[in-house]
Amino acid sequence: MSRQYYIAGNWKMHKTKESAAALAKALVAGLQDGKHKYLVAPSFTLLETVAGIVKGSAIRLGAQNMAPEEQGAHTGEVSVLQLQELGVQTVILGHSERRHIYHEDDSLINKKVRLALKQGLEVILCVGELLEEREAGKAEKVCEEQVRAGLAEVSTADLNNVVIAYEPVWAIGTGKTATPEDADAIHASIRSVIGRLYSPQEAAAIIIQYGGSVKPDNVAALMAKENVDGALVGGASLKPESFIPIAKF
Ligand code: PGA
Repeated sequence: MSRQYYIAGNWKMHKTKESAAALAKALVAGLQDGKHKYLVAPSFTLLETVAGIVKGSAIRLGAQNMAPEEQGAHTGEVSVLQLQELGVQTVILGHSERRHIYHEDDSLINKKVRLALKQGLEVILCVGELLEEREAGKAEKVCEEQVRAGLAEVSTADLNNVVIAYEPVWAIGTGKTATPEDADAIHASIRSVIGRLYSPQEAAAIIIQYGGSVKPDNVAALMAKENVDGALVGGASLKPESFIPIAKF
């Protein structure tokens, strides 16, 4: 496979400066001989601290969200320009916690995706179905709609800066993982959506991460699947003992 494996840690709303710095230092040391592409995404308030530690290392710096506008009267939001100033290279958008707890819809997510890409950031666009949607046989359809809407008006050139993360909502933080076969089937279907929207070349090139209870003991079986190109890791990204073995699977 010519696609590079990409392992990302989403720290969510965990850690304060001291513990974030300790984790970042352990990851820089532990992954210096790592063979894949790596990212950590700490909370906004930790970005500057972590930026100083991962700078020049094998680990990219990501944010977990951003505002849909560059600047203005948006109380409580954080701008792409402010993120870039801190050294952020990547932004996670459309995470299921943003969609379901904070009611972000596809059009808002698309606005953020286009702004991030316009500013030259890499985007990890998260998609995934709810348990009831899976049980109703709608998993592929839901993911297709989220991919289409999330990428509306994104050019082929900008797609090169997009990673898709398939995260079945029922597998996030629950200890339930999609089987490698289930994950591969959805990844293959997302890849064919990219083929239809863009081209077979783009479909072959796009990185599709799996997320949802990825752990050291299940990562290798997931990554062995043809269409699974990496992982977006939540809980297990918070400790070097679990993230490093995942990242070096
Ligand atoms: P989890 O979270 O690994 O804790 O299931 C994954 C995610 O939400 O990105």
